[in-house]
Amino acid sequence: MRTVICPAFGPLANLSVTTTEAPTLGEGMVRVDVAAAGVNFVDGLICQGKYQLKPPTPFVPGSEVAGTVTEVGPGVTGIDVGTRVVVFVGFGGFASEVVVPALTLIRIPDSLDFERAAALIQSYCTALFTLTRRTTVAPGEWVLVLGAGGGIGLAAIDVARALGARVIAAASSPGKLAAASAMGAEATIAYETEDLKTRAREISGGGVDVVIDPVGGAHSEPALRATRHLGRFCVIGFASGPIPSVPLNHVLLNNRTMVGVDWGGWTFKDPEGNRQVIAQLMSMIEEGRLHPTAPVAHPLEQAATVMGGLLDRDLAGKAVLVP
Ligand SMILES: NC(=O)c1ccc[n+]([C@@H]2O[C@H](COP(=O)([O-])OP(=O)(O)OC[C@H]3O[C@@H](n4cnc5c(N)ncnc54)[C@H](OP(=O)(O)O)[C@@H]3O)[C@@H](O)[C@H]2O)c1
Repeated sequence: MRTVICPAFGPLANLSVTTTEAPTLGEGMVRVDVAAAGVNFVDGLICQGKYQLKPPTPFVPGSEVAGTVTEVGPGVTGIDVGTRVVVFVGFGGFASEVVVPALTLIRIPDSLDFERAAALIQSYCTALFTLTRRTTVAPGEWVLVLGAGGGIGLAAIDVARALGARVIAAASSPGKLAAASAMGAEATIAYETEDLKTRAREISGGGVDVVIDPVGGAHSEPALRATRHLGRFCVIGFASGPIPSVPLNHVLLNNRTMVGVDWGGWTFKDPEGNRQVIAQLMSMIEEGRLHPTAPVAHPLEQAATVMGGLLDRDLAGKAVLVP
């Protein structure tokens, strides 16, 4: 099998593609032929040793894959060769095949192609968990999404629209704002050049109800101050680097709520809850209520380039590696 190898934490240029012996199947395991592997912002951080999760090196990066079951190990029932699945593997996904516990397989609807499926789980589960489990959003409420042209941003727009909310998208470039509009945002703010707080208040007629913030840094405080009475500010990530410190009087004022979101950590604490999130996600896709966009596909050899593009803020939307 072919895999991307991260030999040690450090520059992404150290990554290479190699051919290794495919693992044998143990009790309860299945083999999945990988059609596409999703690339996420965190994958690049992990390879550089800049993320809280640090696998033993060398390791194969890549946290989510979609493909077809090609072999079923002893003790596995209810899964047939040929089943189309997506799997959140944590590590090991940038490979032509993976061997995973049968219990971790998620069947995908026929209407969902492998590339969309491979880029779905982390972004959409985080967005759905945030807007339905960590807070709620009512039809007609305003949601301000920062980093709106990125993976979390586009998923949050899609989920918020499916829940009946109105969305303001904030991003740095015309291309990312266009992607956000295509996903259903009805207004946009170029937050590097426009006044985020003032524009968000103007567009929403006084203030937004929910902020989705996967970016952190300088945009967080103006976004918090753009929330109206009883507004919810969802802390998703710090893609820009700096972890902002906000004056707590802006939380007190207007009875605002700060909502911490750690979808990854929660999946270990409440695996059944996460299965329900995934089931809800798949039914919303089957019902045509969610519309994940097609990611850009690259060969395994471009793993470092794609991860670097995300870390350098160059890419809009999602990307997958196709082994
Ligand atoms: N809490 C959770 O459960 C959870 C789950 C998944 C991911 N995350 C975190 O969420 C964050 C976003 O993930 P993602 O998949 O949406 O990433 P992404 O696709 O790369 O998008 C991140 C966006 O952040 C913005 N950004 C601003 N300054 C940046 C900078 N200096 N470098 C890179 N990006 C910058 C960019 O938008 P503009 O150029 O428009 O500003 C970019 O599109 C990451 O920190 C990730 O670790 C958290």
